[in-house]
Amino acid sequence: MIYTVTMNPALDYRIYTESIYHGLINRSEREEIHVGGKGINVAVVLKSFGIPATAMGFIGGLTGEMLRRALEQERIESDFLRVRGLTRINVKIREKEAETDINGAGPEVNLKDLKRLTEKLMQIPDGSVVVLSGSIPATLPKDSYECLFDALCGRDVRIVADMAGAQLKQIVKYRPWLIKPNREELGEIFGEEVKDPLQALTLAEKLLTQGTANVIVSLGEDGAIFVSESGERVAAPSYFGNVKDTVGAGDALLAAFLAGKESGANNSQALALGVAAGCATAFRSGLATAAETRLLMENGIRRAPAIDL
Ligand SMILES: Nc1ncnc2c1ncn2[C@@H]1O[C@H](COP(=O)(O)OP(=O)(O)OP(=O)(O)O)[C@@H](O)[C@H]1O
Ligand SMILES: [Mg+2]
Repeated sequence: MIYTVTMNPALDYRIYTESIYHGLINRSEREEIHVGGKGINVAVVLKSFGIPATAMGFIGGLTGEMLRRALEQERIESDFLRVRGLTRINVKIREKEAETDINGAGPEVNLKDLKRLTEKLMQIPDGSVVVLSGSIPATLPKDSYECLFDALCGRDVRIVADMAGAQLKQIVKYRPWLIKPNREELGEIFGEEVKDPLQALTLAEKLLTQGTANVIVSLGEDGAIFVSESGERVAAPSYFGNVKDTVGAGDALLAAFLAGKESGANNSQALALGVAAGCATAFRSGLATAAETRLLMENGIRRAPAIDL
């Protein structure tokens, strides 16, 4: 079973309008509400690929209940802890020429809540995959992910981490099974700017020497690279397409990679599936489905490889 942990989930409220006028009453042309948060995105895409996943994390108030029910309607398992306050609403304003996001602060999650989550994680069965992703609630210490790693350390559980570079830097010592930084996050870990895929490869392999078993670096338009402690190196180029909204592209990549692995694909096939899901997500508004991903793989035109391995 795959468990995803989202400490700061959200409802994404997308507003489509021609333009926004500051200080005036504006009207939207169309609006949508989606469940949001990185781990939740991963669970949604896994479900589309037919892989069961349980979404965990903190929810609060009516908005939290809406989020839980939205997942229930999609038949996605969840096991959230309730906290004081309201699950945040992230407002995404989509104008013709610009994308403006106002992300909410989220509920008051305290150290007792973190302890409850830690205890819940301790009950996860052996052999599971646990995906820890996204930001830490502002009310918790910045090193809160370390508590979760402490709880899972030494267990027969594969930990996948997709979080800000500063947090990835802290958790590498816990020997995660897989981490997925994007270009900026990889740069943050090492305090340098990642200028090209070759530099990304060098830094990803440095993470292997520090204890991570596998690393995927997602490189936006340049696709992604995968390196493993076994010495394997794989690159997957992205597809040509009209980019609409890249929010969640990295989550879709990670979910489809894991779906591939759960279905018995090798690392190269799983990475190709992941990159296709990332692209299919970037080419639409919202997360891509498994069907859209496969359609892109069948009919899409791949870019030239960004790196020759
Ligand atoms: N501009 C783009 N053109 C084509 N494919 C893209 C583009 N941006 C993203 N992708 C696809 O999505 C994947 C993940 O993208 P990216 O590296 O931007 O992840 P990310 O920054 O972690 O995203 P997020 O955190 O918003 O989910 C890429 O490997 C690629 O397959
Ligand atoms: Mg990301």
